[in-house]
Amino acid sequence: MKTKILGVITLDEVNDLSGSRILILGCGGFIGSHLLDQVLSNPSIQVEGWDTNTGKITHLLNNPNFRLVKKTMHEPGVTVELGKSIANADMVINLAAICNPSEYNTRPIQVIYSNFIDSYPMVELCAMHNKWLIHYSTSEVYGRTISSYISADDYSDPGLYELKEDSTPLIMGPVSNQRWSYASAKQLLERFVYAHHQEHDMPFTIVRPLNFFGPRMDYLPGRDGEGVPRVLACFMSALIDNKPIQLVDGGTARRTIVSIRDAIRALLLMLTNPEKAQNEIFNIGNRGNEVTMAELAQLMREIYAEVAGDRSYLKHPIKDVSSLDFYGEGYEDCDRRMPDVENATSLLGWTPKYALRETLWETVNYYYHYYSGSPMTPMKATMAG
Ligand code: UGA
Repeated sequence: MKTKILGVITLDEVNDLSGSRILILGCGGFIGSHLLDQVLSNPSIQVEGWDTNTGKITHLLNNPNFRLVKKTMHEPGVTVELGKSIANADMVINLAAICNPSEYNTRPIQVIYSNFIDSYPMVELCAMHNKWLIHYSTSEVYGRTISSYISADDYSDPGLYELKEDSTPLIMGPVSNQRWSYASAKQLLERFVYAHHQEHDMPFTIVRPLNFFGPRMDYLPGRDGEGVPRVLACFMSALIDNKPIQLVDGGTARRTIVSIRDAIRALLLMLTNPEKAQNEIFNIGNRGNEVTMAELAQLMREIYAEVAGDRSYLKHPIKDVSSLDFYGEGYEDCDRRMPDVENATSLLGWTPKYALRETLWETVNYYYHYYSGSPMTPMKATMAG
């Protein structure tokens, strides 16, 4: 895989982590790669990362403050080794997961393994060593979401559909719809983490991400991976490989998209404010960046036309596809996820800064140039801070 180093703008919070020893499980993924860029920019932070995939972090592998462990939880003796790593760390960040909806109904056993069975020993070890576990869960624990049970006329009252960490019901669909294998496994792990806090005083933080977007998010099918990635990479793949963009079930589902830059700043604010972040659950999403998937498709082709300097992309074909044809049996959607982010705002002083267009521009620009191998178009001034 080609390596291209993105310009990293070090956030101030990284200075406040000086001298820390951080263990990151699943460090080679999208979030992990951006987190590593930040924490490894401070040479006094020692980082141990576990992952078997390192394609997104090749530019960091020779950093003297980074120790990579390329192991899965299925290898003999691994729990003992993980226990030692946890004992040596000041904080443990768990990012390891299968988090791609096309796999929830097609590989549900692996999804449950990855998101619960392989993860629970890590929780027990954090409890045993009384270490702070910062666990990345998912907005999918809200399930179908309460907005599925109200009519669109009620959308004028956010109180009816906003997702609040401590009071909103978590609504799963039927067992036969395996879409919910992921959400159920993630929810059970959240409950396991919470139980260890309650019974053993283990300090924890749970993060529920709502559609983080940015460079290095997912693979493009047929180029550096096979299968169906999440929506950003599906639409990018259609644009780059000149195929129609596919809108599942009319593209009416809505998502609130948050820049990976804002998401990483939220995490650094948690790490540097343990007295405020510990034993809390945080939705991390951008309420101002809500779009339907049909709007997202239109916006992405507009931005792609700008980045590629080719106005013909303004008319790039968009076609409808049923969820049955696209994902197969057992898929269901969440039609609207609107986060309440008051916890992150009041406790951490976090509010997202990056608008939808800027976030998409940076991401589309990265994908376009990464996969064409040409130098990156300089970032717009608004993205520099
Ligand atoms: C996924 C994960 O399940 C969450 O855990 C994760 O938090 C979230 O992504 C995320 O990125 O934060 P979801 O938003 O449903 O959840 O995943 P996407 O694959 O990005 O799908 C978003 C919407 O786009 C869905 O309505 C899907 O049907 C639609 N879609 C997807 C299309 O219309 N066309 C495509 O080509 C692909």
